[in-house]
Amino acid sequence: PTRHLLCLAGSLRRESWNRRLLQAATGLVPAGVHATVFADLAAAALFDEDLEQADPAGPAGVRALRQAIAAADGLVIATPEYNHAMPGVLKNALDWLSRESPQGEVLAGKPVAVLGASSGPWGTRLAQASLRQVLHTCGALVMPSPTLYVAHAAQRFDAQGDLADASLRAALSAFMGAAATWTARMAPPPAREPV
Ligand code: FNR
Repeated sequence: PTRHLLCLAGSLRRESWNRRLLQAATGLVPAGVHATVFADLAAAALFDEDLEQADPAGPAGVRALRQAIAAADGLVIATPEYNHAMPGVLKNALDWLSRESPQGEVLAGKPVAVLGASSGPWGTRLAQASLRQVLHTCGALVMPSPTLYVAHAAQRFDAQGDLADASLRAALSAFMGAAATWTARMAPPPAREPV
């Protein structure tokens, strides 16, 4: 059966390097794997426990995100770095996803691979470190390696926004292969037949 990797970008910017990276990644997956990029995280309202109390399923945008994650075998999250941490839009989504809901705690036990691109020279090292910590807290199964830190992101894409860096393409392909393997290894065991 085909495994589905859902890719989330931690940026809302129309020309986001992180979304472009994920778009390139969807074409670099091994056979038997299907990867899609989630629309964006803008539809998830700002987290507020009052909203949660009013409706445990959460606002519509949050429900759609939870649904997409619950249906995926694994996640690939590409984060920008804002002030040495992940952007608030991504943290906000993770705060929603960390909560019990009628759709369950959708990050608990979910295989996740983390990467990121930034315009600076360190390629989101600190943002990824904080993202990993939050994901661990949510019970996600975070792929330990390989890591992929894309520095000087603007230089890696052509005028059409396509990935134009052969060594990054190779690293991204290896990363997606590893993410697929990790997702398969971490998959929950099939339910046992009743005896
Ligand atoms: C940045 N940027 C940035 N880059 C970096 O390498 N380390 C950092 O700490 C920061 N801090 C930071 C704060 C804020 C508020 C902004 C808006 C930007 C630059 C950032 O890497 C760049 O804008 C990327 O292009 C963002 O990713 P997307 O939107 O292209 O995916």
